[in-house]
Amino acid sequence: MNPLAQNQLLPAVSPIAEDVISGLSASPKRLPPRLFYDAAGSDLFEQITELPEYYLTRTERTILSQHASEMLKDAGPGLTLIELGAGTASKTKVIIEALLRQQMSTTFYPIDVSASALEIARDTLKSEFPALKVRPLVGDYSAGLSQLSGTPGRKLVLYIGSSIGNFEPDEAGVLLKTIRQSLTPGDALLLGADMVKDEAVLLAAYNDEQGVTARFNLNILARINRELGGDFDLTAFRHWAIWNAAKSRIEMHLESLRAQTVNISEIDMRVRFRRGETIHTENSYKFTPAMVREILSAGGFELEQTWMDEQNWFGVHLARIKR
Ligand code: AVI
Repeated sequence: MNPLAQNQLLPAVSPIAEDVISGLSASPKRLPPRLFYDAAGSDLFEQITELPEYYLTRTERTILSQHASEMLKDAGPGLTLIELGAGTASKTKVIIEALLRQQMSTTFYPIDVSASALEIARDTLKSEFPALKVRPLVGDYSAGLSQLSGTPGRKLVLYIGSSIGNFEPDEAGVLLKTIRQSLTPGDALLLGADMVKDEAVLLAAYNDEQGVTARFNLNILARINRELGGDFDLTAFRHWAIWNAAKSRIEMHLESLRAQTVNISEIDMRVRFRRGETIHTENSYKFTPAMVREILSAGGFELEQTWMDEQNWFGVHLARIKR
């Protein structure tokens, strides 16, 4: 039998199976934040970005629109834009607009795992900016970046939204190194990073009154039910977010409200929970200027300039590769 035919006989297990098996067998239990983003979770995240308490998205958008031209001033002619985790690229429009004021045309490579989000990005950008060439790349960051490493001309990589904060600091350094490898001297990185601030402001952003963040967090269990035949009772868990000052991060957890056993049929797994036991689902690191400099340096970049809002809540950082 040829190997292809053999593969077709294997049951199709969801790509989240491995993460669920390792995370729910660990002690303490954990699930990686990438599991948030199925269609329902991506939709809930879009809703989060519009919440009054979730200052991150609108603050970064304001900084980008106020300073886009300045951010691009040393770009030089023929700049190509690359965006990691672009989604529908709604925040990128101000940068594209500013760039098209400086040069007649440019190419934009949005990279994202969501093909549907990239389709929206391509269609809306093409109709708004006819001079823009949009070349979506579906896949993870490193696969997308490696395809672009030979592209001629200057490059600017955008990594905005403070997604860097969802990585552990050592992983963030590795990711920045991967970005660095696809760039040559003179190329730059524009990094959005949420900054350390008053604890009450941070806690409110991850414990919103309407409960959207709670639904976003609980969706990870709903996803296991949908994709792996789990029987999680969503009313038996509660969303819990805390500020861990020592580690400079907001942590999100799901707390079991009673002792219970959950069955996940597709992966033959029975998971026992004690009352009060938690699953750690996300870290969202908040940065000081020194932390930003440190992760950039670990990735082989030098910080050139930072733009912040009036309250210093969010920073957009321009970095160039170290020579
Ligand atoms: C995508 N990321 C930057 C968000 C954050 O703030 O860490 C994800 C999120 N988690 C809860 N609310 C939003």
